[in-house]
Amino acid sequence: MERLADRVAVVTGAGSGIGLATARRLHAEGALVVCVDVDEDSGKAVAGEVAGEFVACDVTDEAAVRALFDGVAARHGRVDIAFNNAGISPPDDDSILVTGLEAWERVIRVNTTSVYLCCKYAIPHMQRQGKGSIINTASFVALMGAATSQIAYTASKGGVLAMSRELGVQFAREGIRVNALCPGPVATPMLMELFAKDPKRAARRLVHVPMGRFAQPEEIAAAVAFLASDDASFVTASQFVVDGGITGA
Ligand code: NAI
Repeated sequence: MERLADRVAVVTGAGSGIGLATARRLHAEGALVVCVDVDEDSGKAVAGEVAGEFVACDVTDEAAVRALFDGVAARHGRVDIAFNNAGISPPDDDSILVTGLEAWERVIRVNTTSVYLCCKYAIPHMQRQGKGSIINTASFVALMGAATSQIAYTASKGGVLAMSRELGVQFAREGIRVNALCPGPVATPMLMELFAKDPKRAARRLVHVPMGRFAQPEEIAAAVAFLASDDASFVTASQFVVDGGITGA
């Protein structure tokens, strides 16, 4: 299946977890994948595996993000797909009562401001093409009170969701689709590190997943490939939920 033949895709956070699985999936569907990560070793390894390109970039750095998208357009002629996915989860209790302003601002910057920057610098290229698909990684926690005790993380994902909806509406008539992806808990290093610190937390979370398990990153990547492709030609401004039933319960 080569749904994405001749498409140029930018994947941020490609070095691990959901980004890694998505880089592999988009490549398998025919796209040229530009793998972006702040971690050079893992990013380079993925780029090599998918015969793509690695760009070292901290997605909170405006000049670097601008250079990323302008560089991709200059080298490859297009930016068809932007999967704005890099993010962090604070490893410790992030209740509002203990979260300091610095920690709050760091999470908002990496998870939300980065999406603003990536959209800002991807969209002009897509406008020129009259076509493009942007997928921003939010989370199920943007849709419900999930009792995660992670106030900055939850707020950061709410921002991604609202921004994606707004941009989807604003650019719909220019052929640019923007969707927020809302995964449930996914078995990636991010989540596993959190649970390793507090094993009871994993059990508590599982209780709320009707399917009784965490997602595999490949199950999220399949949704990204759909949203990136013309199969999703009438899907924009959506909150695309892949959560094993959590938000439906
Ligand atoms: P992960 O920790 O396995 O991978 C994240 C990648 O992003 C890493 O390779 C890391 O180096 C990169 N990264 C972090 N900060 C960066 C920066 N400033 N610039 C460039 N790259 C940076 O995490 P995972 O689980 O794959 O998460 C990916 C996205 O999915 C995140 O936005 C996360 O919030 C979201 N998400 C994850 C869920 C889960 O249960 N794992 C559930 C819902 C959403």
